[in-house]
Amino acid sequence: MKLRNFLLAFATAGAVLTAGAESRMDSFINSLMGKMTLEEKIGQLNLPVSGILTGDARSNNVIENIRKGRTGGLFGVTGAENVRKIQEIAVKESRLGIPLIFGLDVIHGYETHYPIPLAQAASWNPVLVEKVAHAAAEEASASGISWTFSPMVDVTREPRWGRVAEGAGEDPYLGSRMAQAMVRGYQGNNLAAPNTLLACVKHFALYGAPEGGRDYNTVIMDRQTAMNEYLPPYKAAVDAGVGSLMASFNEFEGIPATANKWLLTDLLRDRWGFKGMVVSDYTAITEMIAHGIGDLEECSVRALNAGIDMDMVSEGFNTYVVKGIADGRISMQRLDQAVRYILETKYKLGLFDNPYLYCDPKRAAAVLHSEPVRAIAREMAAETMVLLKNEGNMLPLAGSGKRIALVGPLADAPWEMPGCWNVATSKAHNVSVLEGMQKVFGDRVSYAKGCNALCDSVLERKLTGDYNSHRDGRTCDQMRKEALEIARNSDIIVAAMGELMNMSGEGASRADIRIPEPQRKLLRELVATGKPVVLVLFTGRPLVLTEDVRDLAAVLNVWFAGSEAGDAIAEVLAGKMEPSGRLPISFPYHIGQIPVHYNQKNSGRPMPPGRPYQKYRNSYQDIPNEPLYPFGYGLGYTRFEYGKISLSAPEMDKTGKVTASVAVTNKGKRAGKEVVQLYIRDIYASSTRPVKELKGFEKIELAPGETKTVSFTVDASMLSFYNHDLEFVCEPGDFEIMAGHDSNSLSSAKLTVK
Ligand code: BGC
Repeated sequence: MKLRNFLLAFATAGAVLTAGAESRMDSFINSLMGKMTLEEKIGQLNLPVSGILTGDARSNNVIENIRKGRTGGLFGVTGAENVRKIQEIAVKESRLGIPLIFGLDVIHGYETHYPIPLAQAASWNPVLVEKVAHAAAEEASASGISWTFSPMVDVTREPRWGRVAEGAGEDPYLGSRMAQAMVRGYQGNNLAAPNTLLACVKHFALYGAPEGGRDYNTVIMDRQTAMNEYLPPYKAAVDAGVGSLMASFNEFEGIPATANKWLLTDLLRDRWGFKGMVVSDYTAITEMIAHGIGDLEECSVRALNAGIDMDMVSEGFNTYVVKGIADGRISMQRLDQAVRYILETKYKLGLFDNPYLYCDPKRAAAVLHSEPVRAIAREMAAETMVLLKNEGNMLPLAGSGKRIALVGPLADAPWEMPGCWNVATSKAHNVSVLEGMQKVFGDRVSYAKGCNALCDSVLERKLTGDYNSHRDGRTCDQMRKEALEIARNSDIIVAAMGELMNMSGEGASRADIRIPEPQRKLLRELVATGKPVVLVLFTGRPLVLTEDVRDLAAVLNVWFAGSEAGDAIAEVLAGKMEPSGRLPISFPYHIGQIPVHYNQKNSGRPMPPGRPYQKYRNSYQDIPNEPLYPFGYGLGYTRFEYGKISLSAPEMDKTGKVTASVAVTNKGKRAGKEVVQLYIRDIYASSTRPVKELKGFEKIELAPGETKTVSFTVDASMLSFYNHDLEFVCEPGDFEIMAGHDSNSLSSAKLTVK
């Protein structure tokens, strides 16, 4: 009889187990581990890949290793039937029948895609972010997947880094709120429910600060900066009960994160109390050879001892841990601990109870691309779009009856809509801008591509892969002529331009982060027709737009909005939906400013905003210090007016609370959504503090003429930071408490902490 049946009586699961359930789990796992050979234990630590590849290596002998009990999980396989077949091999043909865990990068959707994570952060709407993560879990969990490698919570101030698209931008507080929302959305409150996924917070840690913005590059940072400015979202995910964590590729303090005991054990386990399993990133153990740590044996020993439980694709644990144990370089206790974390995770997922829990073709058929799922995708898309410019209320285009020329390489490109990381996307379900606009504006829309996305056809081929057949074979002149002709015969030009989806994401760093040149050129020529030009901007990162937007009538940043992008964009342009996104990251004025972020430190010679160059000041001779569009910025289709912030008391002690309130009025003629933002500044502290730090926000909806007063509770935890000794402290003294529309338009009040 298989062990699974024998032990079935023990199995129950949940994200947080009651004491009774926990002791049943312990008995189950003790009993199971008592039966495992050394090789079978090590086998649980092995996570090979099938299907998607994000590095040079691929896994060999996958099925044979599963049969031998030399594999704990598999990732990259999609579809309920495919997963079931492989799970059957593990359960029926391996000696102990331990089920596999099936992982996948469900980053912003499974088959149906939602806006990229950076865009979702622009919604400033954690409730909706949670709903989206849950909808993604619904689709993936029916299709065999039990584990998603999401959320990615790497704070970044590096727009050159392509993976900025996968996170929540530059702010630790916004990032923390998004991280928690995603963990809740994926995991729900019962990990063993068939429609939830195990979440995996990544990449631990500090991956978002690579030198020069080049992916995988060295990170140089001190611990105090890390604790205050980069680590909070990982901690927030741990506090929200995330069940797994992925270590990052980069080094920290001269040791790759994959072998960094301070990160993986001292901080994560001992200080934060993380109880889930830790997986390495793709071949990250092997990659430590190139980092200069040693051969694969040395790297494997270092990784396991530092705190990696599962080895993704390197096969280092399967190959060298037996020897490491024999040599005494790895303790049996450490091995058992890693095995236990993995088995506990499977137990909590309900896989011992039912290894096929997540293989449900019927549920998959009902949920994939269902109307409710697509409605969430449209709703989220509109909430993420950021209206950067709107001269003379050019938008919305509602009811104007005007002829629209739709131009640009992103206009009729449904395959580009999902954005980067769309490993399971269904190609048939992505709506293009052209299709969406034709539905809304009918035959008032005429279309011409106008140019290819890039001049460099070789690079374009690399970036578009399967889709390269869509590159237009006509000459630039022929394409431009056609576009200018329809532009001249129209009243308004809508230019759908920007990055291709694979210009952001993993391994997609760029040094020149402007709109690619052929598109900029076309944009200038469209402007020269004298017709108003509305730019619908596709991007996975902040772009430098300074020269391009000057003469445009309106700019709607749509990021990559997912499967429903085309419909959502058309409805927003028409004013049927409100673009209510606000920037989760600054858009630089110039590439030379990078890093440019709102929560900077002051220096001893600060430059007052808006002043021209001054010698001996912290400034540039040729450009302002400020970004083109600051953190938190975004317009709407109506106008909001803020009152001055007020505090319920000018003083508080460390155990006290003060309420900060601000009144907001909708001064326009339409209902609209606004994100009310709260910032603080610690004026004098034992260590220097940023000039502003986001500490609260609320997204509200106001009818025309309506006023709402939004209140935030200010307490010591909001005013605390990690001091030089890494203690989390609230130091007495004066604080500025600020509220307003974005990081640059705030009113302020003084609060004294006794
Ligand atoms: C990425 C991870 C991803 C993994 C598996 C790696 O290259 O850094 O974010 O989860 O591949 O696809």
